Amino acid sequence: MASPSGNQITIRRPDDWHVHFRDHAMLDVVVPFTARQFARAIVMPNLTPPVTTIENAIAYKARIMAAVPSGIPFEPLMTCYLTDTASADEISSGYRGGVFAAVKMYPANATTNSAAGVTDIANVRGVLERMQEDGMPLLIHGESTDPAIDIFDREACFIERTMTPLIKDFPELKIVFEHVTTEDAVQFVEARQSQAPGYMAATITAHHLMINRTDLFRGGMRPHLYCLPVAKREKHRLALRRAAISGPGPFFLGTDTAPHARTAKESACGCAGVFSAPVAMEAYTQVFDEEGALDHLEAFASTNGPAFYGMDVNETTLTLEKSPGADVGSVFSSNGEEVVPFLSDEGTTWRCV
Ligand code: NCD
Ligand code: ZN
Repeated sequence: MASPSGNQITIRRPDDWHVHFRDHAMLDVVVPFTARQFARAIVMPNLTPPVTTIENAIAYKARIMAAVPSGIPFEPLMTCYLTDTASADEISSGYRGGVFAAVKMYPANATTNSAAGVTDIANVRGVLERMQEDGMPLLIHGESTDPAIDIFDREACFIERTMTPLIKDFPELKIVFEHVTTEDAVQFVEARQSQAPGYMAATITAHHLMINRTDLFRGGMRPHLYCLPVAKREKHRLALRRAAISGPGPFFLGTDTAPHARTAKESACGCAGVFSAPVAMEAYTQVFDEEGALDHLEAFASTNGPAFYGMDVNETTLTLEKSPGADVGSVFSSNGEEVVPFLSDEGTTWRCV
């Protein structure tokens, strides 16, 4: 269906397979940015307290739906936050009942609101066995939490110490390696795809396709570009670009849009997260355009994800056009907190029609 024609492209409506909507005043202001361009979104459960039950997920979904502008068709796909004490029965019945689309695993203390995460895979074996039986996807924040490991090596370390044993022990568990940031992860996912197609996929953020670790310090510290996993060297960014534009396969779109108040980002201990929802498809399209790969944007944004999750593709479309210099302004929540979006310095070169 993709029809790139120079300065315009129309694709099947995309989905965002990794978003943070937060809650309350922040949720109300950020949801419309995602709903305006994506048909569905996998919603991260790292609220305080986290979403760990069917009941919590149903209530959270209702709050999200209340924030969707009227007349816009949008479906939040809910996830369950995995803890050491999670119940396999609760997770399985949430999946079979259509409440949970997936389970999210944060290694304890790997990132924002992950303190209740998994301290040892051994503690969740029963849950993983049931998920494997049910065909329920496990979404993994793939970073080692060993404080001795250099922050730029945490993803590669996770592959060696956790992901490799995990796929040996659960060879038919469907896994999404979330927001990959390294060439190591790209190669790992490619190898897995060639050995056991359909069991592992990976999401890639727009910001990791656009920035490398040097950009975090360009002209001074850039707290709004700080996220986890942190951006890596240029060779890794280029590997992510090659994966994203590779067409039908295991790589698909997940923005990891993660809004935080400006005051929480611009602080002595600024928190991790890039708020990219206001520029998401614009940024991805710019990357594919730069790569001369607009004909593969639809696979990455609109069809690879549904294929992995076993869902239908969207029948509606989204059109973007080249429009140099579109400004990106700050966003304000209803309680007055300012959130600074990705690309608010430089603007976007594409816009949604
Ligand atoms: C996310 C957040 O703020 O919730 N932050 C981030 O840097 N990506 C958590 C996460 O996905 O790691
Ligand atoms: Zn995230």
